[in-house]
Amino acid sequence: MNSHETVVYENTFPVEGKSFNNAGQVSTQVKALLQKMKIPIKIARRAAIVTYEAEINICSYADHGKIILRVTPEEIIIEAIDEGQGIADIEAAMEEGFSTATERIWRMGFGAGMGLSNMRNFSDYFHITSEVGKGTRLKMIICIDDKHLGKQ
Ligand SMILES: Nc1ncnc2c1ncn2[C@@H]1O[C@H](COP(=O)(O)OP(=O)(O)OP(=O)(O)O)[C@@H](O)[C@H]1O
Ligand SMILES: [Mg+2]
Repeated sequence: MNSHETVVYENTFPVEGKSFNNAGQVSTQVKALLQKMKIPIKIARRAAIVTYEAEINICSYADHGKIILRVTPEEIIIEAIDEGQGIADIEAAMEEGFSTATERIWRMGFGAGMGLSNMRNFSDYFHITSEVGKGTRLKMIICIDDKHLGKQ
């Protein structure tokens, strides 16, 4: 990660917690923005997938949250920060198939227990911290082939 890299785009998107009213809207916007910035489609798709999974988890489990998108010429940085119940056992939550989804979440089509492992698999850097009763923070970085950006 290059923390001194020039940020060419930065935006914070609020995400409603415990509600599916707007579920998926942030990841749709993120994908459109990245495509507008001429980010290669494969990279934009990966960024949209990790954003979507983080967004749906906030919609499912948190009280409220936000997603921060930052783009530099070399990488896409996505942070998902929420306030809510937090995760007691991160190692267990990271396992494929682990889910505490309720019937309501199931009925929305979620709760396979794949979101966090997808986020880890589709990002080049993945970091999660959580505090029970406080909330959860995710940071994910996807590297861009630096030949592509800036040719807009
Ligand atoms: N932001 C969050 N706040 C609180 N708990 C969370 C959060 N994100 C994930 N969890 C916990 O971690 C578990 C695993 O999350 P993960 O996204 O991998 O699967 P899922 O959301 O249950 O199902 P899927 O993502 O496949 O629809 C969740 O069931 C939930 O218990
Ligand atoms: Mg999930």
